[in-house]
Amino acid sequence: MLDTKLLEIDDPEAQSDAVDQAAQLLCRGGLVAIPTETVYGLGANALDPQAVKQIYEAKGRPQDNPLIIHIADVEDAKKYAKDIPPEYYELCRRFSPGPLTVILKKQDCIPKETSGGLDTVAIRIPSHPVARAIIRRAQVPIAAPSANLSGKPSPTTAQHCIDDLWGRVDAIVDSGPCSVGVESTVLSLAEEKPILLRPGAITPEQLSEVLGELVIHQAVTGELKQGVKAVSPGMKYKHYSPKAQVTILDGTSEEYIRYVNSHNAPGVYALCFEEDASELRVPYILWGRGEDDGVQAHRLFAALRELDEKEAVQVYARCPSKKGVGLAVYNRLIRAAGFDEREISDEKASR
Ligand code: TXA
Ligand code: MG
Repeated sequence: MLDTKLLEIDDPEAQSDAVDQAAQLLCRGGLVAIPTETVYGLGANALDPQAVKQIYEAKGRPQDNPLIIHIADVEDAKKYAKDIPPEYYELCRRFSPGPLTVILKKQDCIPKETSGGLDTVAIRIPSHPVARAIIRRAQVPIAAPSANLSGKPSPTTAQHCIDDLWGRVDAIVDSGPCSVGVESTVLSLAEEKPILLRPGAITPEQLSEVLGELVIHQAVTGELKQGVKAVSPGMKYKHYSPKAQVTILDGTSEEYIRYVNSHNAPGVYALCFEEDASELRVPYILWGRGEDDGVQAHRLFAALRELDEKEAVQVYARCPSKKGVGLAVYNRLIRAAGFDEREISDEKASR
């Protein structure tokens, strides 16, 4: 058991001592959970193989699943990546700092522990002021996967990190809830064509404005098919699995309400839009209005953890829009559901 420190940082300038402590722990090879605008990350010095190995141990993460490195300034990208195409800088001008991760060919200084043995590296420039202050103070790139135990929903509050990692890490920084709530968009510029590997708050529509053609990997909207290359090793693993069986219901509000009410039983919960709630006769968790994909993203992982706490057995989730940030919400939800999605629309079901 490690003696985990809790460091509260709301304002990195006013609380520069706590920023120093976090940075020093990282420089000495320690593990620190840090806030970002997407989810909390479990940080270690990305250039220190021993420190990075501990990330995998603390999370229980498969060793071949590479880590994202976090830097504060775009000028640093060339220290860790090579053959960087001009599109990378164009994307950074538009979307960095922010919830975008780009995969590039790696420089030799990135150890195989960080890259999962691949010849590429995933780079992200977070916008969260506390993350930026800690990275700048540490003066090293910070490798950070989401700060959850492997298989649990990603943490969007410091309490989630405490629940999963207390005693397993040197420190947890508490800067309040994350604004975005789902992990960054992952885009590869290391393949023949730009390819979206994981949707996030930077949408395919936005990326296409810069890149023109954008390939969306098959696993973004479904299960990784046998024989399809897992360009991103993370695609192979089951993710975000709550204890309950989650079933996604695709239909109108009326169809959803009718279906859920007729499947009422002990342990049944609804993960519903606000407009569905008033007529539901089962306990529910609200996750925003149907058109409000930003709110759905912000609340999804906390809602999945809450359902676990309530010991839900079966959860019926309303199907998100799959457009804009809705695609990221859908991508996380189908994994939480083990791809159990049902068409409940009368029209289509009766065909
Ligand atoms: O928002 C985020 O991206 C958060 C915060 C902490 O920054 N981090 C995060 O990391 O979600 P993680 O490790 O949970 O997810 C990283 C994903 C994994 O699916 C991994 O397989 C993929 O990115 N990845 C990392 N490096 C890669 C590489 N070189 N090639 C392909 N995929 C890579
Ligand atoms: Mg993760």
